[in-house]
Amino acid sequence: MKHLLKMLDLSTEEIIEILNLADQLKYELKHGIPHPHLQGKTLGMIFQKASTRTRVSFETGMYQLGGYPLFLSSNDLQIGRGEPVQDTARVLSRYLDGIMIRTFEQKEVEDLANYGNIPIINGLTDFCHPCQVLADLMTIREFKGSFDGLKMCFIGDGNNMANSLIVGGLKVGMAVSIACPNDYQPPKEILDFASKYDCFEMTDSPMQAAKDADVLLTDVWASMGQEGEAEKRRKAFAGYQINDELMAQAKDDAIVLHCLPAHREEEITEKVFEAHANEIFEEAENRLHAQKAVMVKLMA
Ligand code: CP
Ligand code: NVA
Repeated sequence: MKHLLKMLDLSTEEIIEILNLADQLKYELKHGIPHPHLQGKTLGMIFQKASTRTRVSFETGMYQLGGYPLFLSSNDLQIGRGEPVQDTARVLSRYLDGIMIRTFEQKEVEDLANYGNIPIINGLTDFCHPCQVLADLMTIREFKGSFDGLKMCFIGDGNNMANSLIVGGLKVGMAVSIACPNDYQPPKEILDFASKYDCFEMTDSPMQAAKDADVLLTDVWASMGQEGEAEKRRKAFAGYQINDELMAQAKDDAIVLHCLPAHREEEITEKVFEAHANEIFEEAENRLHAQKAVMVKLMA
């Protein structure tokens, strides 16, 4: 494993190795056991979109590993003025030991990896959000003990979160169902991958998708960059909500996760959100541990 660009690139074994290391690093942090695996190393973090969790967890994680995190807003970089990513990659490779990037196009992340010669970590693109989904898988295993026999259900937009959850969920052996409006299905690349699995189901009925689910997830109806479509999307996604009625379809002990930020009373009701806040904020914490594991795997 040289980079973390998308879940499609990871084998099941690599995913499990990351989750095991993340569990270990979480244990060490909680017990005050130092783990300076990245002493003397520097991570550049390029942000072309806003972030709370990704920025703070990478920055803190790098510090806890003994390394140095460098926050690089695209507003201040020449990349924001049109310097090609191919050149940025070759320059930054000579200063840094790794780059985390949050941007729009997946191609930009793949280009960084192709032109640079240091590990690249995808901190969210329009296509996928692998760091979030590694934390989600870590959280599911923590609450459920294992992935065996579990059904994971995603309600809402066939977006970056859905894409990574489908691939990650299927790779670790869960059954995966997704309910999305017909015009908002995941892209062909993801559906082609998922179609090889009998335990994958896509429907436009949230009630059907949620049936007997052990884990339910959702995400905002309008992602970063889609603010102009918010009104249209509010109409298209009406009904694609995690609420009490939907929860009644799931298993009694089902957990609910949300990558955050959440829009209460849109994709999830306040009531369900607060009833599952324990799981949702453990998930947010696990971003830190899962990403530290990724950085150690790639950069140590
Ligand atoms: N879930 C997530 O990636 O959060 P941020 O946008 O705050 O980084
Ligand atoms: N789908 C959301 C996820 C935010 C973490 C977005 O891209 O804005």
